[in-house]
Amino acid sequence: MTTRRLGQAPDPALLDDAERMGVDELRALQLQRLQWTLRHAYENVPHYTKVFDAAGVHPDDCRSLEDLARFPTTSKADLRENYPFGMFAVPREQVRRVHASSGTTGRPTVVGYTEQDIRTWATVMARSIRASGGRAGDVLHNAYGYGLFTGGLGAHYGAEELGCTVVPVSGGMTPRQVQLITDFAPRIIMVTPSYMLTVIDEFEKQGIDPRTSSLQIGIFGAEPWTEQMRQEMEQRLDIDAVDIYGLSEVMGPGVANECVETKDGLHVWEDHFYPEVVDPLTAEPLPAGERGELLFTSLTKEAMPIIRYRTRDLTRLLPGTARPGMRRMEKVTGRTDDMIILRGVNVFPTQIEEVVLRTPGLSPHFSLLLSTRGRMDHLTVTVEARPDCPPARRADAAEEVARAVKETVGVSMDVQVVDPETLARSVGKLQRLVDQRS
Ligand code: DLL
Repeated sequence: MTTRRLGQAPDPALLDDAERMGVDELRALQLQRLQWTLRHAYENVPHYTKVFDAAGVHPDDCRSLEDLARFPTTSKADLRENYPFGMFAVPREQVRRVHASSGTTGRPTVVGYTEQDIRTWATVMARSIRASGGRAGDVLHNAYGYGLFTGGLGAHYGAEELGCTVVPVSGGMTPRQVQLITDFAPRIIMVTPSYMLTVIDEFEKQGIDPRTSSLQIGIFGAEPWTEQMRQEMEQRLDIDAVDIYGLSEVMGPGVANECVETKDGLHVWEDHFYPEVVDPLTAEPLPAGERGELLFTSLTKEAMPIIRYRTRDLTRLLPGTARPGMRRMEKVTGRTDDMIILRGVNVFPTQIEEVVLRTPGLSPHFSLLLSTRGRMDHLTVTVEARPDCPPARRADAAEEVARAVKETVGVSMDVQVVDPETLARSVGKLQRLVDQRS
């Protein structure tokens, strides 16, 4: 077991007021902001008027934070039905920017921001970069995709707000990423963890030891990644790897972020986003600390207030540590719609990632193929060997993965180990699973 690598806490004078609030003060602020949000949504978005009325609730019924549970939840389908601008609570002229997420089928999900929303987003994003160890004056290499995806521009505005020098590279053109990191000497990189791996491989291909780069901090998110992956990236790059979470429907990146001095889950920036955890099947609230589906209600958003949004992300809420007033969410290890049900057993790709990365000789690059054999679903895991893995080791490594998955998850699958550089690489979010079931 390697010792955990932790960074340095920021000088308390650098923190925002909300990061220094105690729980009681924060709860009072949240209630006031929640009451405003419910009224704003009810009065200005026909969808909320309709669903609140149908549920027999009115914004005046919210007298405590617990009352929020009486209000209906919002799903991605609600956003799609109101495509493109039906969820906006302000006249379109006051919307300065839209973003959209493509989704796998049908219409994209559109979100909008007023000028004030863009300022709020920059504030929480700057806070996230600072919590990760970033400071004014740092050079920050931003390889999140620019465009309709919230990653690129979200990180960009936050980095500028903090006072960093931003290099807005976006994703792709991997050899150039390596060149710019080498020439501009950034201290921070922001990128999806899967694309970070691609960039690390490119360093090695060019004969440069990635540990000698100027990078000291990686702020990774937009997709699930495990503690094993953190170790892999911290060791191969000699950096602190910190987790950032967010989703476009709620704002974009910067809804929650790990603190580099503890790396123990992500502090939710609760002055702007109110979290709940519910049973994924019934949407009933779960007791504090239990694992379930994460819901968010925005507390300050003007253009598109969102009430009890069902993220489909699975996690649990824990008390604050590095920022004692704000709760933490455990690292998200899966989504309800990522879950593979294999012969009655729930399997998440992250469980396989953990096993693969613990197995000597195997690289972090793997894909999953779901198929039908007879009347049964079948899962095949294809993993690339590390370049230095002797060919004779491959069969043993495959067997070790299959055995470890059987022991920890309780289900059998085929594992094959293939040559390095065989599988497709991501430039943004990685799609690991191919579903070929009939
Ligand atoms: O992925 C926003 C973002 C950009 C977050 C850059 C972090 C960094 P969407 O495209 O709307 O927004 O996708 C949101 O991505 O519901 C999660 O399932 C997943 N996700 C985001 N961050 C994490 C994370 C952006 N740190 C969806 N760990 C969310 C696990 C994450 N999953």
